[in-house]
Amino acid sequence: MISRPAFVPLAVLAAAQLSAAGHHGRDGGYGIDWISCGPDLEEVATGPIQCANISVPLDYTDADNGKTHTLELIKFLSKAETPLGNIIINFGGPGAEGLVNLATSGAIYSNKTGGAHDLISFNPRGTSKAFLEFSCYTSAEDRALGTDKLEYAESSDASLGRLWANGKVLADACAANVKEVGEVVGTSFTARDVMQIVEALGDKDLNYFGMSYGTALGSTIAAMFPDRINSMVLDGVLNPHEYYNEVWDWETMIDVDAAFTAFLEECFAAGPDRCALAKDDATVESIEKAVYDLLETLKTEPIPLPQNLVMHNQTFTPKTVDHAGVRGLIHLTLYHPGNFPLMAVGLDGLLTGNLASYALWRDGEGSRASGVVQSESQLGIRCADKNPATRISGLDEIAAVVEKAAGISTIAGVGSYLYNCPQWSIESKERYDGDFRVKTKNPVLLISSTYDPVTPLISAFNASSGLEGSVVLERKGFGHLAMAQQSECLDEALTAYYTEGTMPEEGTKCDFDKPLF
Ligand SMILES: *[C@@H]1O[C@H](CO)[C@@H](O)[C@H](O)[C@H]1NC(C)=O
Ligand SMILES: *[C@@H]1O[C@H](CO)[C@@H](O)[C@H](O)[C@H]1NC(C)=O
Ligand SMILES: *[C@@H]1O[C@H](CO)[C@@H](O)[C@H](O)[C@H]1NC(C)=O
Ligand SMILES: *[C@@H]1O[C@H](CO)[C@@H](O)[C@H](O)[C@H]1NC(C)=O
Repeated sequence: MISRPAFVPLAVLAAAQLSAAGHHGRDGGYGIDWISCGPDLEEVATGPIQCANISVPLDYTDADNGKTHTLELIKFLSKAETPLGNIIINFGGPGAEGLVNLATSGAIYSNKTGGAHDLISFNPRGTSKAFLEFSCYTSAEDRALGTDKLEYAESSDASLGRLWANGKVLADACAANVKEVGEVVGTSFTARDVMQIVEALGDKDLNYFGMSYGTALGSTIAAMFPDRINSMVLDGVLNPHEYYNEVWDWETMIDVDAAFTAFLEECFAAGPDRCALAKDDATVESIEKAVYDLLETLKTEPIPLPQNLVMHNQTFTPKTVDHAGVRGLIHLTLYHPGNFPLMAVGLDGLLTGNLASYALWRDGEGSRASGVVQSESQLGIRCADKNPATRISGLDEIAAVVEKAAGISTIAGVGSYLYNCPQWSIESKERYDGDFRVKTKNPVLLISSTYDPVTPLISAFNASSGLEGSVVLERKGFGHLAMAQQSECLDEALTAYYTEGTMPEEGTKCDFDKPLF
């Protein structure tokens, strides 16, 4: 299905008309009519919520052409009698929708940010089913045919050529079916949308919390609207220069193998009673080598899971255990430290022939391998943002990129968008092309775990280097996002930042609270 550009419900005030003086008020702003979110969202909400739709220009480079886009908003209400203001949250992706995410996780974010603000989120351009969905196939049948199974370029000699050809088919399907949408879903337009929300709320400046891709959005907002930044926290930081201007985001891979080694070290430190891999006759080095050897072997000798596997009264679908599946599962589990004991059980099962243990891990973590399967809205946004100078057409050129990436990590593979964006043919209406060097009104706080498997600590320092006065806070430990492990120290720093404007000291490191195993 292709979503056509949205028409504007007449009752909704155009955002351009909202700038005149109006009453400030918790539920008022300059023209947002907050109403019930309806039963679906209410049912999953972790606290009181309200929803609204607001109208913004569809194309900011031609804002007077009368065409508008509708942004769907959600508010998670603070328990405070007089809230300090609003914090706008983006959940990453790119393309993570905002409504369900904030409804379900509002209580957590409210707690971590001090509880004094109303939290606001929105469906970014390209992600909404109702408005401007970036969806490249015109039928489910076409999508099923065009969507390949999880595969790495290193899976076999035939893989790269197929991935590259499939990448072009999808890029061309997007250009054929949603070109007009693809032109207006880039991050700089979403940055402008965020500032429209600030206007509509009646706020003077922006308070922001961005996770993962939401940090690329945050870096872009900071660079485009430095004078409007009241507060900004970036968690799980992307290198914004690579995100926009490099054919592949190299830094996303650099800590993945180190994170796996550190996982094994923690496992052996916890001992065999708590971590299944920590056998007396094994070492970190021997297990690491055994796992890497297994990944090699699985390329040519995948293991068929038998029928009727049972463990702890659980039954398992008998799928084939192959290189891509196990590799993707290791990478994905490195995002979620809560599943480290499960990964230890599963890897131990694979190494000792206990396939039910492996299946327990597979189903516990989820069979989706992160970074490899991307929805079309993620593609639409990422590829809109990539500098057209990064486009390439030859198989030999992409082979060189993939080879360089393979030299950075054994576990991480390149994301599927590497096979699409270099073959993209939709031109974004606007792309931020500055250098990200700005002095924001108030300083930005960047946070990261030590061993993030996709947004490494070094990228936080890179983004921070352009943001005058910003500070990087390291949360020791694992997982994608500083919030991936509970840390009271981190929560206190966030609360102090949002409620008092206090920056942590440069070089602050926070411990995590609960043992991993
Ligand atoms: C926003 O618009 C969508 C699509 O028309 C509609 O389903 C939804 O109920 C609207 N939300 C609000 C809060 O008005
Ligand atoms: C967050 O939750 C913890 C644990 O339940 C509680 O002690 C703390 O007071 C909460 N903080 C806020 C700001 O709600
Ligand atoms: C497993 O299932 C059997 C039969 O339903 C039951 O008697 C047993 O208590 C279950 N064991 C566990 C660990 O749940
Ligand atoms: C940040 O990353 C970009 C792209 O990799 C690089 O060119 C630049 O030198 C880095 N800046 C710093 C301060 O490390």
